[in-house]
Amino acid sequence: MNDKIRDKAQQRQSLINDLTENIIDTTATLIDKGCDQELRDKMAAEISERINFEVNVTLNEMVTKYCPQKIREQVTEAEERRFLRFGVNFRIQHVLMFISVIVLIITGIPLKFPEFAISKFIIIDIFGGLDNSSLIHRIGAVGLIIVGLWHVFYSALSKMGRKDFWLMIPRPRDILDFFHTILYFIGRRGSGPKQGRFSFIEKFDYWAVYWGMVIMIGSGIILWYKEYFPKYIYDIAREAHSDEGLLATLAIVIWHFYNVHFNPEVFPGSTVWLHGQLTESEMKHHHPLEYAEIVEAESNEIQAERQTTDPSEENVK
Ligand code: HEM
Repeated sequence: MNDKIRDKAQQRQSLINDLTENIIDTTATLIDKGCDQELRDKMAAEISERINFEVNVTLNEMVTKYCPQKIREQVTEAEERRFLRFGVNFRIQHVLMFISVIVLIITGIPLKFPEFAISKFIIIDIFGGLDNSSLIHRIGAVGLIIVGLWHVFYSALSKMGRKDFWLMIPRPRDILDFFHTILYFIGRRGSGPKQGRFSFIEKFDYWAVYWGMVIMIGSGIILWYKEYFPKYIYDIAREAHSDEGLLATLAIVIWHFYNVHFNPEVFPGSTVWLHGQLTESEMKHHHPLEYAEIVEAESNEIQAERQTTDPSEENVK
């Protein structure tokens, strides 16, 4: 099976080479001033990178869509390299956060809509009354506060945390990517923008949670210790807590769940939160710019190593 796959890969590569030549020849006849060797080499590199990328993505999609599980694993996973996306520290933070948030939503939203039958069912039949459900809401709140502080220290003190926090900062390119995506959605671009480690959608998701946590924890503490605050502060906090709580719930259920569960590309759910890894084709498909950076850094490292072990390599191109 593996030999067959390898043969097919070789055949594909030679077809890609032929196709690349064909595109260059066609382009050369259309370029008025002609096409020198330097330009041909440049085009060859660009074209074959583009075709290889599309071929790998298409292959991966076809296998995922049509092959039985066994073949799918053999073709796409067994031989594929894996890339660490989320370390164990970050994964534990995420699990603690989603457990806390689920508890907070289940015990919080019924308080906002007490007249609904389902709210009475949750508060009375499931939790055994308001006191218990309030207590569980506060336990969930402690979980969220711990994870919030943990994440701040993680972003400041750990190497991976600092790097990811820096990459999460929005940049002008995100605005361009946003418009590019809209143009793609309305059919004015052939493909969406190529993403680095974090897309503008992921950045939005991250900062929405960050902002939401500041509001929910800040206003929640005021509600918890209301006797220490003037009434108007309590009223503002209650309004903010109640509305932001509903907004956060809807954002999670509609926005976040679509991105990580219901989107046809990941349905029934991405498992990156569990093992923290992406396969090579997932990297190429979802984070091609990050993938290119990693591959380039690795090849630079290998070259540097070769040069230190054999200085004569320096002259070899
Ligand atoms: C995703 C996070 C959270 C959601 C969705 C949420 C949701 C809610 C909602 C909808 C209410 C009812 C407000 C109303 O009466 O209109 C509420 C009440 C309350 N929340 Fe939260 N909340 C969250 C986090 C927190 C946190 C972090 C704290 C504490 C630091 C907190 C403390 C409270 C308190 C003390 C109340 C008053 C009711 C009670 O005593 O149980 N909440 N929450």
